[in-house]
Amino acid sequence: MTNQTNVEYRMGLGWDVHRLVTGRPLILGGVRIASDFGLDGHSDADVLAHAITDAILGAACLGDIGVHFPDTDPKWRNADSMKLLAQAYELARQAGFVLVNLDATVILERPKLKDYRLPIRESLASCLGLGLDRVSVKFKTAEGVGPVGEGRSAEAQAMVTLAKLAPRGNDALR
Ligand code: C5P
Ligand code: MG
Repeated sequence: MTNQTNVEYRMGLGWDVHRLVTGRPLILGGVRIASDFGLDGHSDADVLAHAITDAILGAACLGDIGVHFPDTDPKWRNADSMKLLAQAYELARQAGFVLVNLDATVILERPKLKDYRLPIRESLASCLGLGLDRVSVKFKTAEGVGPVGEGRSAEAQAMVTLAKLAPRGNDALR
């Protein structure tokens, strides 16, 4: 019998889509983007925060965003999605996990987002208590193809790595 431990790594994948409409703000990773269109949804519709939330919940095997923050509950109307993200990470931490890194892609035809890369990374890093070098955000257009390319919606994809100290031996994999 030893008290040695292994570090167990879990990857998590998240994806989300929201419609682009007039009269709504465009908020990505908690940062307000200058735009004539914004994202429609029950909460603030921060598609990037939602994808990262699902990636964290997925890696920790804790279901998905709708289980914890259902869009049928008036409590979450116009909710600040960065607060939901922080709460999701708190659930993962309670289950023994810490975030190692996150990498995300926003797919949006316009506006150009690259000038917002640093503010978005800083906002996410601050929300999650992560070093800036562990938070990557990328941007793509859809080359004019499909609903995203036609400017009718925006998507986000995210991957995270969580780490957990696990007992050495086969029990760690049960
Ligand atoms: O989609 P595409 O490959 O043409 O994007 C080229 C580059 O434009 C991306 O790598 C990204 O740096 C930038 N981009 C952006 N804002 C977008 C879409 C793409 O800054 N909404
Ligand atoms: Mg969403």
